[in-house]
Amino acid sequence: MKRWQHVNGIYQIYPRSFKDSNGDGTGDLPGIIEKLDYIKSGNATLGIDAIWLSPFYPSPMADFGYDVADYKNVDPMFGTLDDFKRLLSEAHARDIKVMIDFVPNHTSDEHEWFQESKTSRASAKRDWYIWRDPKADGSPPNNWLSVFGGSAWEYDTASGQYYLHSFLAKQPDLNWDNPEVRATMCDVLRFWLDMGVDGIRADAVRWISKDPAYQNNPLNADFAEGDDPYFTQRQKYSRYGENLFAYLKEMSNVIEEYDDRIILFEDYPDPWIDLKSQYSHFYAVNPRVAAPFNFEGFGTPYSAKHFRSFVNKFQTYIGSEERPFYCFGNHDNPRLVSRIGRPQAKLIGMLQLTLPGTPVIYYGDEIGMENVPIAPEYVHDPFEKQTPGLGLGRDPERTPMQWSAQPHAGFTSGEPWLPVANNYSLTNVETEFGDSGSFLRMYHALLKLRRLSVLRFGTYEEWMGSNDQLYGFFREDTKGALFVLLNMSAEPVAYNGDIFGLVLYSTHAMQAQTIDGPMTLQAHQGIIIDCSI
Ligand code: NOJ
Repeated sequence: MKRWQHVNGIYQIYPRSFKDSNGDGTGDLPGIIEKLDYIKSGNATLGIDAIWLSPFYPSPMADFGYDVADYKNVDPMFGTLDDFKRLLSEAHARDIKVMIDFVPNHTSDEHEWFQESKTSRASAKRDWYIWRDPKADGSPPNNWLSVFGGSAWEYDTASGQYYLHSFLAKQPDLNWDNPEVRATMCDVLRFWLDMGVDGIRADAVRWISKDPAYQNNPLNADFAEGDDPYFTQRQKYSRYGENLFAYLKEMSNVIEEYDDRIILFEDYPDPWIDLKSQYSHFYAVNPRVAAPFNFEGFGTPYSAKHFRSFVNKFQTYIGSEERPFYCFGNHDNPRLVSRIGRPQAKLIGMLQLTLPGTPVIYYGDEIGMENVPIAPEYVHDPFEKQTPGLGLGRDPERTPMQWSAQPHAGFTSGEPWLPVANNYSLTNVETEFGDSGSFLRMYHALLKLRRLSVLRFGTYEEWMGSNDQLYGFFREDTKGALFVLLNMSAEPVAYNGDIFGLVLYSTHAMQAQTIDGPMTLQAHQGIIIDCSI
């Protein structure tokens, strides 16, 4: 993919939680505009040149904006369409690209299309959604489950049929097999691309094509007590239908009508689908403009063995024209610091910023934000409400950005919609900029270093001496050669290689300016050696 060639990194903003400009406790678009100077490339700033905004569309917020009631507007909670246009032009003035979230699989049940579809079986929009008759005994048409718990079918008494919702009942699935639906959704894309939006993150695409026969999903023999109940079944028929990649191609064709725009697909690896073929299908959709995210790091245990294994495999699956988009945090998964620990998460941050491709960084990960425990009475997330107690709730990783040691971490002058982390007086942007050993300073330094073409475009080759504790790899192009070495263990580890070069960066203070032969790496230490001399 040649598009977005120069982009150094993508920064995911969860608009509710980034910056509140009007004191109502919820982040908004004017708040994001206030903080663009923090994001843009420059000296005392993060050095990021693309942002991805989670949904800001009008929505009843049953799934916090992933239940869209109008695809072409802005929810008053976040501001106005004019605010969005201002955000776009302010971002562009700073050379920041703007990617928005596109939710193709489902609308809100309050969207006028669904309201119309629901009026009767004869409605002109009936077939825009997936309606089916009950079984003879009145039960749902098949055994498919909702991701958030319970059946994926909701009964509508007035018309005597069920509609399908792969997520909440308030998120009815659109019928992508209907050409009118596809054409209308492609026009939604054009609406934003015409306005100047640079990129699209496409949500939950796996579900847009289903088994045409709507067969029951088989049971999952590997399901264990305490797992997410969704995985009592293998989702064999309810997603990855035969038309999926054709429909994605239609979306990507729209992207291709414009210059330098891209589309990224949300796709988690399914344990029962061969990973290599899964990636190759997604990358093959339209290699010029489209790619899937790589989410494998979310579940990977912290060890050199596990991380080496998934990165090495993935790097061999893709060709030199296919760009990786490694993601180690997002609004649906526990914060890395809470999952694996603070120094460990910092090292993974370093890994992300030294791997090939375009890193996708979740807001707050650059300062080492943690999951914030949410008392039951403050739970907002429907996932936690519908399947309580299994640790599936996503509120903990969606808490307000920690800007400073001011009240509410400088996020709002009002009452924040979710609690701010207790550690905010130390873990915040302002304090961390003043601390050379902080997370933020590491992100800052490495994002600057990524301006070296070798880090963005160079080849990746694993160091043969890598083992269960040390993970080393080379990045090389015609302009340079770097050696990245990570000690992914809690003990100091001896490195006995014979690489010679200048130390460009280290997570831990080092006396030596060069390395030349054996040395010891501290626990969770990472170094970058310039070996092009
Ligand atoms: C994936 C989104 O990232 C998640 O937050 C949302 O709940 C589901 N898709 C449904 O849209």
